[in-house]
Amino acid sequence: MDEKVPLEQKTEQSSKTIEALYREERRFEPSPAFRHHAVVSDPSIYEKAAADPEGFWAEQAEHLHWYKKWEQVRKWDPPWAQWFVGGKLNVSYNCLDRHVETWRRNKAAIIWEGEPGEERVLTYGDLYREVNKFANVLKHLGVRRGDRVAIYLPMIPELPIAMLACARLGALHTVVFGGFSPESLRGRINDAEAKVLITSDGGYRRGTVVPLKQNADEAVKECPSIRDVVVVRRVGEAAKIHFQEGRDHWWHTLMKDAALYCPPEEMDAEDPLYTLYTSGTTAKPKGILHTTGGYLVGVAATHRWVFDIREEDVYWCTADIGWVTGHSYIVYGPLANGTTSLMYEGSPDWPAKDRFWQIIEKYRVTILYTAPTAIRSFMGWGDQFPAQHDLTSLRLLGTVGEPINPEAWMWYHDHIGGKRCPIVDTWWQTETGMILISPLPGLTTTKPGSATRPLPGIEADIVDEQGQSVPLGGGGYLVLKGPWPAMLRTIYKDPDRYVSTYFGRYGPKVYFTGDGAKRDTEGYFWLMGRVDDVMNVSGHRISTTEVESALVNHPSVAEAAVIGKAHSIKGQAISAFVTLRAGVATSKEKVDELKRHVQEKIGALARPEDIFFTAELPKTRSGKIMRRLLRDVAEGRALGDTTTLADPAVVARLREQYGEESGA
Ligand code: PRX
Repeated sequence: MDEKVPLEQKTEQSSKTIEALYREERRFEPSPAFRHHAVVSDPSIYEKAAADPEGFWAEQAEHLHWYKKWEQVRKWDPPWAQWFVGGKLNVSYNCLDRHVETWRRNKAAIIWEGEPGEERVLTYGDLYREVNKFANVLKHLGVRRGDRVAIYLPMIPELPIAMLACARLGALHTVVFGGFSPESLRGRINDAEAKVLITSDGGYRRGTVVPLKQNADEAVKECPSIRDVVVVRRVGEAAKIHFQEGRDHWWHTLMKDAALYCPPEEMDAEDPLYTLYTSGTTAKPKGILHTTGGYLVGVAATHRWVFDIREEDVYWCTADIGWVTGHSYIVYGPLANGTTSLMYEGSPDWPAKDRFWQIIEKYRVTILYTAPTAIRSFMGWGDQFPAQHDLTSLRLLGTVGEPINPEAWMWYHDHIGGKRCPIVDTWWQTETGMILISPLPGLTTTKPGSATRPLPGIEADIVDEQGQSVPLGGGGYLVLKGPWPAMLRTIYKDPDRYVSTYFGRYGPKVYFTGDGAKRDTEGYFWLMGRVDDVMNVSGHRISTTEVESALVNHPSVAEAAVIGKAHSIKGQAISAFVTLRAGVATSKEKVDELKRHVQEKIGALARPEDIFFTAELPKTRSGKIMRRLLRDVAEGRALGDTTTLADPAVVARLREQYGEESGA
């Protein structure tokens, strides 16, 4: 456990940034032309939603197809929420069947570009056929309503096809990001008790092959619930794979004889749609549970408003579907809205650093949604890469995943948006399911670095330690004071953890986000990052405890403390302070070995940037590790109050040594 650190200290660094932000004078208004055509152009939407939230969300729900309408819009029995109670619908019907009954049958649903350069376009008609067939495949393998299916795939069309096939049958999918290790995959499969795993022979990443099937085999060795593994052929000869007779099946073989139509299950609005695992403050990731009706209403509506979706758009969200951004804003939101969505398999610098801009030019992308960490990398690579391409098709830009610094915002605006595209900085979480704080591009005056205001119908507030609302101009903790349709319903198989994690701090009616935020005198929100033990590395959530557990699992390690230190590209980078067991010598090789160990345990995303050996860790008199001090040391800052330290000399020694080693 950590010592309780007051907000001001935890966010000391951010506070300085925020002071600078308060002096941010730049304002960007939507152009009259943008405003004129915008999906949302009437500012009264905020008041209407606040005055009658149920009527407001019911109106949004009318955009979907329901087998049976709801009896009650919402039932809020804090902290338990239900939305569109009694309503019946099917998510895959809403994303596909509805469109194929119209001219959209021949509209591109997914434009896919593979990393090596292949192209594939799936119309709504194509996607409908593939999803129906694959739903029949799953059915044939014995998958039924309520069952769990794990998906471990690269960014290929089979990934959304598999998800939608699950939704068609009412089975829950658990997508695991392809960068996770066999052990992380195993933990998630076992928690979900998945019957089937869908993977591929491999995936491409910067020209090399990621051995997904090998990882899957390693994971499944200890997954008693898995009966069948379906394998997509993606890399062919490039991966050496082993097939286990009776358990493993090729996707294309199963699909050959699958029937063309699979009737969608009529699901209850509150039936689960999926679980997605995310890091919390303990070593065990949480299975965030999303349900059917409220989730789809929430993601479809926010996708339409925030990205100002028009029929002719080519919309590109660059996230991986292994994260919630891909679930909500590559798969469910865009497809529910009948949007043409671009999906790219690979990395932005492969084969060259202009790959994104080349893709935008090639497909005439109109909306780009990416992460601040990517934008900071692009800035570092240089203006010449976007300048080589025609980016005039773009009309709107978005960001997500972490706070965006004003310099990156301005660069995005000038060099990618050609100074004409509004930027929507969207704040949300795996748990919220949908965007909650963001500009509405036709209405909101933006300020570089601010996510601006809560969306219509969202009751966000900033409170102090006691839960009192902080007046404008002040900072505190970001909370949500009412339910919203796409909110998580619980943590899978762990309702107590749901209550204590999100509603333990300010009572059952107030959801605590884990984020610090300030609000300026005009009511604009400025997000300051996590105030708990969750790190945000390149927009990916990793818990300090998860990395610490991986480290102490190594036979050489006695004790470990992990912190996220400020990093100019990644936002945060992982620094680990490690005490080795008696008799183990410190060496450069040991550093590499431990880094590799963490990578093998969790995945490359959790690999520490630096590991620092220390004879002792700074602890309070009650024995708690003082992370704030470690952060100060790692970031080379003057130390704060060390009076509660058991042995203040430990910190001084740490700092001296660390300063020398990092060359600071
Ligand atoms: O700290 C916030 C940060 O990312 C966290 C949620 O991470 P995750 O569940 O992985 O979802 C990421 C994509 C939705 C939040 O608690 N975060 C996300 N968006 C922003 C942000 N911080 C500042 N500004 C944002 N726009």
